[in-house]
Amino acid sequence: MPVADQRAHAALPPGPQLPRALQTAIWMRRAQGLLAWSRRRYGDTFTLRIAHEGTWVVTCNLEAVKSVFTGDPRILHAGEGNSVLLPVLGPNSVLLLDEEEHMRQRKLLLPPFHGARMKRYEALMQEIAAAEIERWRPGEVRQLRPRMQALTLEVILRAVFGVAEGQRLEELRRALRRLVAYATNPRAGIMLAVVGPARGERIRGFRERLRTVDELLFAEIAERRALAEIAEREDIMSLLLQARDEDGAPMSDKEVRDELLTLLLAGHETTANALAWAVERLARHPDATARLQEEVDAGESAYLQAVVQEILRLRPVISVVARRLKAPFRIGAWELPAGVGIVPSIYLMHRRADIYPEPERFRPERFLEQPPGTYTWIPFGGGVRRCLGAAFAQFEMEVVLRELIARRSLAPARAQSERVLRRAFTETPSRDAEVLIGSAERMRVAR
Ligand code: HEM
Repeated sequence: MPVADQRAHAALPPGPQLPRALQTAIWMRRAQGLLAWSRRRYGDTFTLRIAHEGTWVVTCNLEAVKSVFTGDPRILHAGEGNSVLLPVLGPNSVLLLDEEEHMRQRKLLLPPFHGARMKRYEALMQEIAAAEIERWRPGEVRQLRPRMQALTLEVILRAVFGVAEGQRLEELRRALRRLVAYATNPRAGIMLAVVGPARGERIRGFRERLRTVDELLFAEIAERRALAEIAEREDIMSLLLQARDEDGAPMSDKEVRDELLTLLLAGHETTANALAWAVERLARHPDATARLQEEVDAGESAYLQAVVQEILRLRPVISVVARRLKAPFRIGAWELPAGVGIVPSIYLMHRRADIYPEPERFRPERFLEQPPGTYTWIPFGGGVRRCLGAAFAQFEMEVVLRELIARRSLAPARAQSERVLRRAFTETPSRDAEVLIGSAERMRVAR
């Protein structure tokens, strides 16, 4: 190792001494296990070496996480770490950009995702959830993760893309489903990671799926722009087409296309897996489910919100968020050099016993006693990169759980809790949220 490298190494917090390839292999299968083990061994801040990601300084130290989320976005880059997604999302995606370009896209996207707007999607979400749940027959054992994927995809297609009935729209729905299935398939994901972003377009299956989506989307964008009554439409595509930046300029067709695909990919699997975990946990906590049912019957929502917050705390679907340093950055005693990744760990922060007593316990009440903290409850990351769909996702989870509790009861298909299994980019229940479906009435009578 050259001397300069050794000095840089010495400046980093300690971490597992395993070879990079081995750390990467463990990370791909058991990210949370590696994080928990490293924290026990090295404390709140430690160094991991993951192929493709470079050197990561992972932290769940309160001050460090806060300083990352409030730090200078010119020094803390998030976009470049996501470049593996470039072939799908395109160069204008808010996920891939940094600094001024990122802020321009983010400002254009923010208004449609404002918390207050979410109510407008309630009826649509309710209708989609009710139709899905009504298909689950009492008495059958089902894996609900794939059902939640279908449900959240439908919500995005209708609320974000504004896809209604009609032939082209049916084609678009089919093409987007095929693209999502491909992009979230771990094997295809690994293939893209191996060939690298620049050459991803050379993979035939992928290129064809993308071309079909693009043709349909650009045709739809052109038609929507010409629509006289676009101002009356509520879907996010129509809102983006009417958005203007600070200079009064609209988004180009290419920008709208890239952001729509970003919203689809960032919003669909994540919300589906969070809902799958909700089912997995609630099925094993009849007391919480009973309380939820009472509250839903009474038309209230404080406990429902707490349930959603507790699911996202206990089973965060994303374990870490990363920022690549463009200049040296101080974390506690360490002066981290440029080039290193500084990585707040969602998973470890949510397991801090000083913030969350009995951290492994599913106890929604904790959020009724104390609301979530900005830098301690971080399932959606933080700062200028905080998830744009956070309000949308939480609202959707509430609507779906309300419909579910009103229509069906849940019992675990097997007593043992499901393990956390990493698939593509998210942490999922190992048996796909396998539950025994019951009728809601039976549960009420039983109490
Ligand atoms: C439970 C569901 C979800 C979870 C757990 C989640 C989590 C996250 C996380 C951890 C980040 C990175 C934040 C950071 O780096 O600090 C993120 C970014 C993002 N998410 Fe989500 N997300 C969810 C749902 C959604 C939905 C429904 C949408 C849109 C429809 C969405 C759109 C985005 C976008 C556009 C970004 C990039 C923001 C930026 O870079 O400025 N997400 N999300």
